[in-house]
Amino acid sequence: MMLLSGTANRPLAENIARKLGVGLCGVTIKRFADGEIFVRIDENVRGRDAFIIQPTAPPAENIVELLLLIDAAKRASAARVTAVVPYYGYGRQDRKDQPRVAIGAKLMANLIATAGADRLVSVDFHQHQLQAFFDIPVDHLYALPVFVDHFRRRNLSPLVVVASDVGAAKMARGYARRLGGEIAMIDKRRPAHNVAEVVNVVGEVEGKNCLIPDDMIDTGGTMAEAVKAIKEHGAKEIYVCATHALLSGPAVERLSNLPVSEVMLTDTVVVPEEKHWPALQILSVAGLLARAIRYIHDNESVSSLFE
Ligand code: R5P
Repeated sequence: MMLLSGTANRPLAENIARKLGVGLCGVTIKRFADGEIFVRIDENVRGRDAFIIQPTAPPAENIVELLLLIDAAKRASAARVTAVVPYYGYGRQDRKDQPRVAIGAKLMANLIATAGADRLVSVDFHQHQLQAFFDIPVDHLYALPVFVDHFRRRNLSPLVVVASDVGAAKMARGYARRLGGEIAMIDKRRPAHNVAEVVNVVGEVEGKNCLIPDDMIDTGGTMAEAVKAIKEHGAKEIYVCATHALLSGPAVERLSNLPVSEVMLTDTVVVPEEKHWPALQILSVAGLLARAIRYIHDNESVSSLFE
């Protein structure tokens, strides 16, 4: 097994490597004077099972780095190349919902496969169906066990798990089943990109502790509106969790001013120190990814991680 990392989330890659008891393979990543990226794998990967760890959150250079690393590993005769993409960027652009738009999620899948990846590992796609965009095997992991472990240690009863929109209902049901609780749902409208409006709260939240899980927090608009709506409907303690901490634009200001007990995010993307606030806690998906990598390498069942 050989673990390689791009520059997008080196701390997570180091953490995964530590858990697997494997060193990260030496890689040189430099820039030409005009900004063009150059990569070189500094060790022999011939015949090895190579895992390249790189989330593809913006900037787009992260995707280019991933593609170049896959290409370098393939051309250096790695036996198998697995792209480990903890956050799959461009995943929201998954259909043609307006005339003349690109389907970015499919394009990225094509690029990763064309570069030479033999399989992909990722965590909490924006939509599960993205798996079908790949003609190579995909191991789609859930951060749910990481969050459930944490929330089991809190006494959240009586609990209602609130889906932040219709698309999050299945995820909410998964949390409710494991933590023991009811579900409720926010009826959300998106008048424009990154603008969220709550139309209605479906279900009973009054006097209950509420947990709102989501796949990502980008500008924080969805979460802020959901928290305000359930607070107005009488929610007691409110907990928030999301896998991908994109935290762009006004996210930190919005979230740090919300009446919530905890905001739990993971380290699929790096959250810089200046974006931390007291209610925020970061849980690591390193253990989850390390186990998935180990199981893939040993040809064991990855789904057993979630049983
Ligand atoms: C919605 O479909 C997603 O699950 C997230 O709720 C959404 O993308 C978060 O975006 P923002 O934080 O900008 O509202």
